[in-house]
Amino acid sequence: MPITVEGVEVAIVRDGSGRVFAVRDECSHAQVRLSEGEVEGGSIECWMHGATFDLGTGRPLCLPATQPVPVYRVAVIDGQVYVDVHARPDEQPPASELSDLSAGDRRPAAAKEH
Ligand code: FES
Repeated sequence: MPITVEGVEVAIVRDGSGRVFAVRDECSHAQVRLSEGEVEGGSIECWMHGATFDLGTGRPLCLPATQPVPVYRVAVIDGQVYVDVHARPDEQPPASELSDLSAGDRRPAAAKEH
């Protein structure tokens, strides 16, 4: 699901085991949306040229991408998704410091200002 949080384009991704990840919605190889890619296991595959990225670290797992994509701290609390675009996923925040995507920060990517 593509969203914008505090001006940052983010792809919210759920893998097959139900884990939720937040990753910058832009492939590091070119400027296409990762949210349109395929999720398999703990990785997402870019639809354009097939680079895959680890959803937990953002690290590229194969060419043609050689640079990581930013990943963000995300939590699901009482069915609501919270994202902090200022912190890495291994930093555990209180939910009150995260942006609630069910409130004003959740917007379709097509509705974003450029
Ligand atoms: S644009 Fe994503 S792999 Fe080339």
